[in-house]
Amino acid sequence: MKKHNFSAGPCILPQEVLKKASEAVANFDGIDLSLIEISHRSKEFVAVMEKARSLVKELLNLPEGYSVLFLGGGASLEFLMTPYNLLKVDGKAAYLDTGTWSKKAIKEAKLLGKIDVVASSSDKTYNYIPKNYSIPSDIDYFHCTSNNTIFGTQLKEFPKTDAMLVCDMSSDIFSREIDFTQFDLIYAGAQKNMGPAGTTLVVVKDEILGKTGRTIPSMLDYQIHISKDSMFNTPPVFPVYVSMLTLQWLKDLGGINAIEKINEEKAALLYTEIDRNPLFKGFAAKEDRSLMNVTFNLTDDSKKEAFDKLWNAAGISGLKGHRSVGGYRASIYNAMPIESIQVLVDAMQELEK
Ligand SMILES: Cc1ncc(COP(=O)(O)O)c(C=O)c1O
Repeated sequence: MKKHNFSAGPCILPQEVLKKASEAVANFDGIDLSLIEISHRSKEFVAVMEKARSLVKELLNLPEGYSVLFLGGGASLEFLMTPYNLLKVDGKAAYLDTGTWSKKAIKEAKLLGKIDVVASSSDKTYNYIPKNYSIPSDIDYFHCTSNNTIFGTQLKEFPKTDAMLVCDMSSDIFSREIDFTQFDLIYAGAQKNMGPAGTTLVVVKDEILGKTGRTIPSMLDYQIHISKDSMFNTPPVFPVYVSMLTLQWLKDLGGINAIEKINEEKAALLYTEIDRNPLFKGFAAKEDRSLMNVTFNLTDDSKKEAFDKLWNAAGISGLKGHRSVGGYRASIYNAMPIESIQVLVDAMQELEK
């Protein structure tokens, strides 16, 4: 029996995707070669890359004028690629600081220019999303993180600004309906809702590029990657293939509209128990709670051993909170079935009994 996998990332992927991916490693599409031993320029792999990119456009409902890239280097490299490609020499950008990943993005951007941090929730261990901040008008772009994987908070709305809007969607992309055209640049590491670690999805509006006056190293230049159809260098073929399978799985399920309803139901099941059960309390402010990462603590730490025993015995894995928050974190990404969440809720109720 498989475990109930609540890992924050790399994390659960659909069972049927894992099965197809393992078959392709042995023999890809009946060509008697493995997916990972054929050229990335073969017609077979070029078709995989094209399919993956067109599924992203379809699922996010993107109009003409956006390019989709699958790059290496993780979302962490995008912390640097974003300012390289969008921040003018002598320019300025504004960032919203909502957690560890925002902070890391700010640190990299500061290497290249002036960065205004418009608001931060660091005063309360990032357990809420700052509101009512103002965004300066003299900036090249505004950067935010849609979902704070470690702290379990999520932006429910995105600010309106005349500047370019950039978003790190690593831990909630493809999980809820958003007007994706409000963004000029979106990036997301694959290893939550898309595939294995090793590739990063970048969605960028073509018209914003090439305007900084900077010399950009080739590997960091979005325009070069676009001109080479994400094949400037050898792309991470296996992560791209598995991402394509996951995106197809999502499309077959009914797309983002369908998964959003399931995600809301799953999160409601767990948050309702956290609020009802006197032995638990939620970490994140209620109005900012994430649908993807549910952070919570015991009200009485002396129950820790008993609770840990219960969920371990129930076959649950990956529930330990991040070291900077403590407590527990249940990551309930797209591929997590509601049945696994019920198993966790049962363990919480068992502790109460
Ligand atoms: C919101 C967010 N941004 C960025 C990252 C960093 O991603 P990577 O490890 O792919 O560089 C993570 C990783 O968990 C994340 O959750």
